[in-house]
Amino acid sequence: MTIPLRSVRLAVPLSSVLLLAACGSNNSADQSTAASTTTADSTKTTTTMPVSAPFGKTTDGTEVQLFTLRNSSGAQATITNYGGTLTSLMVPDKDGKMGDVILGFDNVSGYQSAEYLKSGPYFGALIGRYGNRIKGGKFTLDGKSYTLAKNNGPNTLHGGKVGYDKVVWQAEPGTSADGQSLKLTYLSKDGEEGYPGNLTVTVVYTLTNDNALKIDYTATTDKATPINLTNHAYFNLNHGAGKDILNHEVTIPADRYTVVDATLIPTGELRPVKGTPFDFTTPHTIGERIAQVPGGYDHNWVLNNASAKMHAAATVYEPVSGRTMEVTTDEPGIQFYTGNFLDGTLKGKAGTTYGKHAGFCLETQHFPDSPNQPKFPNTVLKPGETFRSTSVYKFGVRK
Ligand code: GLA
Repeated sequence: MTIPLRSVRLAVPLSSVLLLAACGSNNSADQSTAASTTTADSTKTTTTMPVSAPFGKTTDGTEVQLFTLRNSSGAQATITNYGGTLTSLMVPDKDGKMGDVILGFDNVSGYQSAEYLKSGPYFGALIGRYGNRIKGGKFTLDGKSYTLAKNNGPNTLHGGKVGYDKVVWQAEPGTSADGQSLKLTYLSKDGEEGYPGNLTVTVVYTLTNDNALKIDYTATTDKATPINLTNHAYFNLNHGAGKDILNHEVTIPADRYTVVDATLIPTGELRPVKGTPFDFTTPHTIGERIAQVPGGYDHNWVLNNASAKMHAAATVYEPVSGRTMEVTTDEPGIQFYTGNFLDGTLKGKAGTTYGKHAGFCLETQHFPDSPNQPKFPNTVLKPGETFRSTSVYKFGVRK
């Protein structure tokens, strides 16, 4: 499945070749993938497989791949098996022009640079074993205390020092009536980062023909363990313009949010959003009230209708491109994070500088620190059970 690098193309940097392959350019570099591309005829079902290309070597010398999923409408997603990271997502704007709405890098070294690891933004990555924070890096389960690797002040964030964002996943491209897919599997060993049980995690990304990226998570364990899986994509629906996301209009159907302490750990209180800058039950631009929230938005909203299998989690509209994004999930919460810690030190795809609020995340999830909050929805997976969760990011336009 590897795209052959013909000698003529070695004259240009590898990153450019990969970018061209990833962007579905019509130049000769992309012809080698022709057998696997689809037409833009939306009446046709995609039956071809995603293509893969080298994405560089990790710092320990492992070669990783970049998989390109295309759909019958011309949209495409690229995902690397390093961290199961979504590196780009090309969707149409109001004039039908494709544009990338995801922050990220052209090759794996971008995700492993010293500056990247220092700032830890988790661009586009799969997050586990436990997304978001666990207070003091400790919890008790069935009478036994567990101590986790701390990586966020006094707390554990997004799985610990080496979370699922920093491991190489086994990848299997596939296709179904829904569209092209990539199945990623990882065995998280008993004791990894302090968590109990061998946890086998499978994540399937599917790019559907109606321009949705669907993410299905499943997991099984041989010891009871907390689990909270999500994806940490940073979106900017007008990414190519190099602007921040403060003009994006966001709706979150949540009447309450989890109040946090100074280290962003929930106090246990579910506070009504009414009359506060956290009220996104009707559309508001991100910038409108962000100055009233010290540090910016980085909170978990308690979704309404969470008992419904799939329910609305957020809607976003960007007026310049006309792009819209609708998030649905079966998770009870969503972390809305406005890229507050981005500070311009990271340079991404096509030389874009990622400054404060360059992108926002909508991380579908169970509530932070649930293992220490008995009143929050349960996050413990037991042997014999199968963890299942689905989130869908669907793109459209408003003219
Ligand atoms: C999550 C957290 C944030 C931040 C980002 C990564 O969204 O809630 O506080 O750590 O991840 O930078």
